Amino acid sequence: MKITVKVPATTANIGPGFDCFGIALSMYNKVTLEELVYPDEGLEINMLAGENEKSSSVNTIPTDTNNIVYKAVELLYNYVGQTPPGLKINIEANIPIAKGLGSSASVIVGGILAANRLLGNPADEAALLSIANEIEGHPDNITPAMLGGFIFSSAEEDGSIVYRKIEWPGEWKFILCIPDYELATSISRSVLPEKIDISDAVFNLKRSAMFVEALHAKDPELMKYALDDRIHQVYRSRLISGFSRMKGELKNLPDVLGTVISGAGPSVLVIYREDSGFEEIKSNLTAIWQEIGIKALIKNVDIDTKGAVII
Ligand code: HSE
Repeated sequence: MKITVKVPATTANIGPGFDCFGIALSMYNKVTLEELVYPDEGLEINMLAGENEKSSSVNTIPTDTNNIVYKAVELLYNYVGQTPPGLKINIEANIPIAKGLGSSASVIVGGILAANRLLGNPADEAALLSIANEIEGHPDNITPAMLGGFIFSSAEEDGSIVYRKIEWPGEWKFILCIPDYELATSISRSVLPEKIDISDAVFNLKRSAMFVEALHAKDPELMKYALDDRIHQVYRSRLISGFSRMKGELKNLPDVLGTVISGAGPSVLVIYREDSGFEEIKSNLTAIWQEIGIKALIKNVDIDTKGAVII
């Protein structure tokens, strides 16, 4: 049997919701799992670069038992008391790697859901989320990748994931700026302080509360206040050329609700109102990237509300 799963990209944090908020976006990886007929046929992993990814990045991904998709699949087999059979895994990488867009969460979720289907669906949603998070460590990517939409999530001490999905207003759109350099999450986390000032914690608490209410009330003016942060962006912005400038300049455009670092960066996410804002925002962004001398892909993306699907 052969199972293919299509899984969306994700943008995590979204300003104040560090390690908590995430949104699934309309860019997809595909993971195909095929049980080989003879168990001793071993493991074959094929990486394929899709339209948004360069083959040079894809070629750096391990294709042996160190591959994260294989590790995720193995963990699921172990969960049901089995070891994986001979497997062929095809990974179509269309979500740019190491760009703060949840590419690893996406393939982990794809591998786990495909393996669960191959095994006859022994694991329920809660178990699948916990297993995926055990490998990935970022529920703010894993949960929207699996379930779609805007989600806040928390990995609890027992490994379970508590989450809720909140409807995202259809008129609030996204532009992604994806620079042509990579930034490993481990490096982006290494610049964060171990302790933060209580006034910064309180600043983010207020913004998170505003964010959730802005979604419920579909209130763009409240969202403009909410899309700010003092826990991670201020430290990471020195790794992300032009971020502070983009945030400051785009604030003056009436359609822009906010500009935030996507996940651990280096991509930047602009949230804006109505389609009419796109060209003006794009030309502002293009001018800034050109001035700082970095090539970037600037693209419109939609929210994905379905999450991972078996195709
Ligand atoms: N919330 C995580 C971070 C996302 O910002 O480090 C990593 O993908």
